[in-house]
Parts: sequence; C-alpha cells; structure tokens
Amino acid sequence: MKLNEKQLQDFKRKFSDILNEKDIITDQDTIAPHLSDWVGNISGSSILMLTPRNKEQVSKILMLCNDKNIAVVPQGGNTGSVASGIPNGEIILSLKKMNKIISIMPDDYSITVESGCILSQVQDAAMEASRFFPLSIGSEGSCTIGGNISTNAGGISVLKYGNMRDLVLGLEVVLQDGKIMNSLKRLRKDNSGYATKHMFMGAEGTLGIITAASLRLFPKIENKVTAFASLRDLDATIQLLETLKSFSGELLSSYELIPKIGLDIAITHGDDLKSPISDVKEWNVIIEYSDTKNNDNANESLQNTLAYAIEKELVCDAAIASSLSQTQNIWKIRKAIVEHQPKLGGEIKHDVSVPVSCVPEFIRSTTQKLVEYLPGVRPVPYGHIGDGNIHFNVCPPRSYNSDVFKQSTEEIREIVYGNAHTFGGSFAAEHGVGLIKKKQMLKYKDEVELQLMKDLKSFLDPKNILNPGKIF
Ligand code: MLT
Ligand code: ZN
Repeated sequence: MKLNEKQLQDFKRKFSDILNEKDIITDQDTIAPHLSDWVGNISGSSILMLTPRNKEQVSKILMLCNDKNIAVVPQGGNTGSVASGIPNGEIILSLKKMNKIISIMPDDYSITVESGCILSQVQDAAMEASRFFPLSIGSEGSCTIGGNISTNAGGISVLKYGNMRDLVLGLEVVLQDGKIMNSLKRLRKDNSGYATKHMFMGAEGTLGIITAASLRLFPKIENKVTAFASLRDLDATIQLLETLKSFSGELLSSYELIPKIGLDIAITHGDDLKSPISDVKEWNVIIEYSDTKNNDNANESLQNTLAYAIEKELVCDAAIASSLSQTQNIWKIRKAIVEHQPKLGGEIKHDVSVPVSCVPEFIRSTTQKLVEYLPGVRPVPYGHIGDGNIHFNVCPPRSYNSDVFKQSTEEIREIVYGNAHTFGGSFAAEHGVGLIKKKQMLKYKDEVELQLMKDLKSFLDPKNILNPGKIF
C-alpha cells in the first residue's frame, strides 16, 4: 500500500519515535532528485523519504511498515538505469546516511562497510590499507555499495575479478518484518547450508534491505597498462582476447569493444579527445593489464602480445599509452560514448550478454536484422565483450525524426533481446530488470525459474512491502 496525504501526519509522528526529525523528509524539492534516474525514462512520486542512520532504525521502520501494510522503495546513489529505485507513491528509504567503513582487515583481504558507502570511498579505503577493491563502474563517485550489491553491478573489471556478487563475503540484511540477518562473516569458505546471502544480491531491494557487507579485497595494483587496438574484423576481437588470455593470464583486467562509430561520437562530442591511432578500423578494443609488481613486466608482455597479434593479422594497428594523459584519453573515449550517444538523434539502450564465443556472430546478425527492419539505422554495440556483455545501443538513421524513432522502440528492443535469447544470452546482463524489463522477464525467463522467484518473494515479503512492482 502507498502512503497517502491523509496518513502522512500520523506516520510522521510514528517515525519520529524512530528517527531524528531531519531524517524524516517531506519537502518535495529535496525528494525530487530521488523520483527519476539519470536515464530519465520514468518519473515517480513519493511524499515521504526516510534517511535512517543505523540498522536498528531500518529494522524499526520495516517493523512499522510491515505492521501497517505500507511499502518502501530502498535507494542508494540512485545511479541505476532500469528504474528499480524509483517509487510509485511508496516511501523512499534512502540508505545514504549509513556510510561508515566498519572495519578493514588487510590480512584477511576484507573490508566491512555500511551499505550507504560510496563505491569510491571503499576503493580509497582499500588503497590506504595497501589493498585493492576492483569493482569499477562509471558512477563510482556516487553509487553506493548497497546498490552495487542489490543490482549485482558489473563494470570494466568483471573479466578478471567477477561481478559484485563475486566480491561479497558476507551480508547484513533487514527482513520485511524487521528481523536482522547477520551474516557478515569475512570467510572465503562457508558451506554451512544454503548460501542465503546470495538471494539478496541482484534482488533489487525486493527481498530485504542490505544494511552492511563484508567485501573481498585484492593485492594492491602497482602498475596499469592501457592500449587501444584496431582489429582486422569482429572475429579478431575474440581471437585477440584468447591470445591475450593465454599469453598474459592474470594480467588482463579489461577488454572493451569500441566500434568506429563510438569513437567518432567520442571525438566529435567529447571534451578535447584524440583518436589514439590514425588509421582506425571498424572494430577496436581497449585493453588494460593490471600488475601487482611495479616493473616493466605488464608493459613488455602487452607489447609482445600485440606484436604477435599484428604479425598474425588480428590487429592492424595499436597504441600503448605511455603517459597518464594518454591513458586518461583512452578511458575518456570509453566514457564519452555513453554520455554523447544520444546526440545522434536519440538512442534505444540495451544491455545484453551472450557467450563470449558468440559475440561476433551476435553483433553481425543483430545488425543485419535491425537494418532490415529500419534501413539506415545506426547500431552502436560497445562495452564489456571480454565477459560477453554488450551495450547494444541503437541510434536512428541520419536526419531521422527522434520522436518517430521512439515509436520503433518496442520492435527494436524485441530484435535485440530476441536475438540475444537465440544465442543463449540474457536481456539483462548488467543493469538489472527494474520496471523497464518486466515484459522481457515474462517472455524470456524460464517459467519454472520465474515461478521460483515469485515463490521466494511471497515467502520473504508476504505483504509485498519491499520495492513492490519491480522485477515482475
Ligand atoms: C557502461 O558500461 O559504461 C554502462 O554500463 C553503460 C550504460 O550505462 O549504458
Ligand atoms: Zn556497462
């Protein structure tokens, strides 16, 4: 149930027994930024936002809400893109004030933090302890650890370190009735029954409220080497990936696809960006090596492998960044594609994955189907192909009216998602389901698995007060 104006005063009084006055927010100007995400697809509403400062307060809030059948929508940094944190009249439960680093244990390679910690805060704390926390995503300066876990965030280092799920050792979760599940152990091995903590990861706040987490740390990275390579063709992207893996093993930390159209967008609209090489081919990649040793090992290894790949005609040309500004230029190109792509007259975003070996054929066949549907359409497939995740965004034909293009959204989505499904892929590789992909959930998710998810939801949240209406 949503909170209405009539109930508001009564609930404000009840919440004031739990929270400080300033953590009970009704001012619409303060609430406004929490009602839509950066993609701006959907605008929500809420007349109340709560900002608890500890798990006991979260527990009491949920106890009360569960008792009175009032729903909450948990929110971290609100940096998602599928509207999973957008309220539709429910109370917003912002975890942002729960932002303490609880402990850091360098010898155990672990850090325990409250869920409202900003990702970059955790990266910095790890660094100060001569350790490394590898999750790296565009919004790392504002997204929170709770949001990262609830969406099982990915990013540019999944290839080497895994998704957020792989970086979590333990969780503390407040259940719908206010009970606190304490599973904050910092263990790599714990086979004592079901791995219950995994239920809450990627659940988008529909099964419980994550209030703290123990996370894995890694040895500090002393040397990073970044290169930009132009490849013979799409097949060469996967052949080069295999060559890099077999030659350099653990050094390879990122492998990102940059199509020429993406590079052109970045150079044209980005701030003072330069192409790293002059003769840019249709398909390019950013390669990053990360080494715990501060010597020439990573640089030499990448140089030798690229020389070999040029000899084998996988790579046409490549440049290894030799300064910080060259490295930044390469990564800024990657970022600028995301930011400036809408300037091509609009974009329809897709975040899909297929088995790595299928990436070239998937990109070719999806492009062909799109062009058959709408001649002149401009696909911009880019991103984390090292782990099979492609941001297969689609821009309209040149000089096409963007409103007319929007009318094709459903058809274009179905072409991309349908084809990913044909290749054994996923329609929601990285950004989750939220409100945006509920239709695909019904269409593509295995029926039995979907029913199991619904059963789990009814069991853990029988009154449907936790982020109702999201995922399914
Ligand atoms: C990225 O990899 O940069 C993002 O996931 C892309 C996006 O937000 O669309
Ligand atoms: Zn991504």
